[in-house]
Amino acid sequence: MNVVQKTIAVTGAGNGIGRALTLHLLNKGARVACIDKDEEGLQKTEMEAGSLAVRLSCHAVDITNRETLPGLVNQILHQHGCIDGLINNAGVIQPFTTVKNIEMKDIERVMNINFYGTVNMIKAFLPHLLPRNEAHIVNVCSMGGFVPVPGQVFYGASKAAVKLMTEGLHSELKNTGIGVSVAFPGAVATEITLHSGVPPPDIPISKKKNYTAISPQKAAEAIVKGIEDNAYHIFIGSDSKWMNMLYRFNPELAANMIQRKMRDLLKL
Ligand SMILES: NC(=O)c1ccc[n+]([C@@H]2O[C@H](COP(=O)([O-])OP(=O)(O)OC[C@H]3O[C@@H](n4cnc5c(N)ncnc54)[C@H](O)[C@@H]3O)[C@@H](O)[C@H]2O)c1
Repeated sequence: MNVVQKTIAVTGAGNGIGRALTLHLLNKGARVACIDKDEEGLQKTEMEAGSLAVRLSCHAVDITNRETLPGLVNQILHQHGCIDGLINNAGVIQPFTTVKNIEMKDIERVMNINFYGTVNMIKAFLPHLLPRNEAHIVNVCSMGGFVPVPGQVFYGASKAAVKLMTEGLHSELKNTGIGVSVAFPGAVATEITLHSGVPPPDIPISKKKNYTAISPQKAAEAIVKGIEDNAYHIFIGSDSKWMNMLYRFNPELAANMIQRKMRDLLKL
């Protein structure tokens, strides 16, 4: 789908990849409905949009609050006239800890935001996308949604659920005008740990030097290109692309590589 003059709803638009998506879409000539529970973050996104903010609306909404979503849809329709696209990007990580030690409330929280939040948005928006001649949905998953990351097991499980739900939705919508993509970012330089409210991992300084993460701008460009190309899967960053190939070739080898990176941190 060409994004020019289209209205696209972006969740998690108050920070990181969501803000970069908003700015990139505005620069390409789209209208954007920014959704986030972080009101200050939304204000910052609006400020960074400068004169392009005339094509933007901001909505302080928690995507886990299902009852508020019909009102959100109405607000967007009122302000923009239609909705052509939905990017489910809002998400959180879990505390960096093992299956044995994580608390049930932290498991429920990550599933509730990453999986059910995405489901809530799709259930609320799909009836308004279906009548469009052309529309697009992108669900932002993670490299951790196809390869296991110790210490982020339930984050990965929530993203794996998003992956399969998205692929199933793609199959169900095959004979409609709605394109469906799932995006798999590798490491992206955002403050997701801070915004997720979890303590930062205690990574030894020597390991930090090797850590390369792409910019949120590059991630946003890849996602929008995925919409334009109607891509089934969007792998973002060389780590995600490479790990996808390795995982297909030998899943256990791929899992062992990640395990080696995480074992000191988790004392495994
Ligand atoms: N940063 C990475 O390395 C990375 C890697 C793979 C996947 N991802 C995924 O990319 C997406 C964006 O992450 P990011 O790195 O930009 O993080 P971020 O923390 O910078 O942005 C996430 C945004 O989601 C919002 N949010 C969280 N819960 C919400 C809720 N219940 N309702 C509404 N908004 C909510 C936050 O307020 C925040 O503004 C996430 O789904 C994340 O899992 C990120």
